[in-house]
Amino acid sequence: MPSVRVHADPAKAAVAVAGIIADLIRRGRPDGRKVVLGLATGSTPLPLYRELIRLHRQEGLSFSNVLTFNLDEYEGLAPDHPQSYRRYMDENLFSQIDLPREQTHVPDGTSDDSEAVCRAFERAISDAGGIDLQVLGLGRTGHIGFNEPPSPRESRTRRVVLDEMTRKDNSVFFGDLAAVPRAALTMGVSTILAARRIELLAFGAGKADIVRRSLSERPGPGCPATWLQEHPACTFHLDAASAAQSAS
Ligand code: F6R
Repeated sequence: MPSVRVHADPAKAAVAVAGIIADLIRRGRPDGRKVVLGLATGSTPLPLYRELIRLHRQEGLSFSNVLTFNLDEYEGLAPDHPQSYRRYMDENLFSQIDLPREQTHVPDGTSDDSEAVCRAFERAISDAGGIDLQVLGLGRTGHIGFNEPPSPRESRTRRVVLDEMTRKDNSVFFGDLAAVPRAALTMGVSTILAARRIELLAFGAGKADIVRRSLSERPGPGCPATWLQEHPACTFHLDAASAAQSAS
């Protein structure tokens, strides 16, 4: 079962998770290889990225020995599209730390051969020695990455069709529902569960119901975040509002 930590506010949660990531980077990997981080986009991890940038600037945290893999990317958005997840990562984190671009990986949503992109993405994760720590947000459909219901436990990186609730939720960033892509490439559930450690962040009253379901429903494809119950080292970082419906 995931551990649950209820923080005073999202900023405090961000400081806690950034501290976990900084420790991991400073300790290094036992095998001496680069530390591998799995990263998320959306509004939830923004305070976390701000705190990592602060640690870099003010406390000398270096990312030169880090590799990153992002969970997902919209289909059809070029890397420099204002709403692409590659651009989000460049703007909100990568351009502000000492992480060489070739050490970052975001699935290419523009390829005609998405299966080849997904296979290469899985291979790159495995060549890197697997993900040490995966950061997750949580969608109101129960998605992690863009694993919309139904997503089986054994799913790997693949093309998925986005749920209409997700398109509507994300239309705030696009300004118009029609502009939100209908599909995406995402790490699969089993790709995510293979991470050695998972830190999920979910804040606000709008996430309370799906947090409750994720922690209390039997693991199954209908609410993909329930699969996290089967991970041995997963923590849900919540605030009082998102924790409100979950029994303590
Ligand atoms: C983003 C991702 C999604 C988001 C989720 C929550 O890379 O994989 O699962 O984490 O849609 O989005 P926000 O944080 O905007 O509520």
